[in-house]
Amino acid sequence: MRRSYGDIGLVEENLPDNPFALFRQWLTEASANAHIVEPNAMVLSTGDLTSRTVLLKDLTEAGFSFFTNYNSRKAHAIKMDARVSLLFPWYVMERQVSITGKAMRLSENVSDQYFASRPSGSPIGAWASAQSEVLASRTELETQVEEYKKRFPEGGAVPRPPHWGGFVVSPESVEFWQGRYSRLHDRIRYIKDENSQNKQDVSRWNRIRLNP
Ligand SMILES: Cc1cc2nc3c(=O)[nH]c(=O)nc-3n(C[C@H](O)[C@H](O)[C@H](O)COP(=O)(O)O)c2cc1C
Repeated sequence: MRRSYGDIGLVEENLPDNPFALFRQWLTEASANAHIVEPNAMVLSTGDLTSRTVLLKDLTEAGFSFFTNYNSRKAHAIKMDARVSLLFPWYVMERQVSITGKAMRLSENVSDQYFASRPSGSPIGAWASAQSEVLASRTELETQVEEYKKRFPEGGAVPRPPHWGGFVVSPESVEFWQGRYSRLHDRIRYIKDENSQNKQDVSRWNRIRLNP
């Protein structure tokens, strides 16, 4: 019989020194779980006390990347206060990962590359949607789409709109929560040691266990 993740839990001796390897392992396991739709969906909360789902598109030592509209409510909130939180709720696995950190714009180059890789149809949507602005009707949006289809005919390249691009959230803390028996859940939080960058510019992380 296969043991469940909750039977095994989070054991200090088996945990990596930084949160990235463990996060990647959990994301891989969530992606292999047929009950989890959009395993890379994360809830982004900003300093204006608003939350929304966005999709994780890349993960490197620099952080967690997503793409959006730079005129949206979330982007305005990030401009006012770069500190954000990210939450991955993988309930069917009795897992969650919650992250705090600072969001920064990705380079134009990286945003261009990602924009060009997206499926056809969505580039026009990025031009047509003034994300987070009020619409008088659905027809207004559809009219915008038709306008941009004329401007960028099918088969031709659609450039990235200047108001569209990515953010990377550089993590300061990453907490892994694993459900266990009798509500004695495991909570392991990695906290970045701000004073310790080694020669390769790799951060060191401290690790604590919290009461469930
Ligand atoms: C599963 C899912 C994935 C989403 N992914 C994105 C995304 O990657 N980028 C994005 O801008 N909005 C995404 N959205 C829409 C956002 O949740 C949100 O409605 C939109 O970005 C406007 O948010 P704001 O007005 O707070 O800026 C997604 C929504 C869902 C339900």
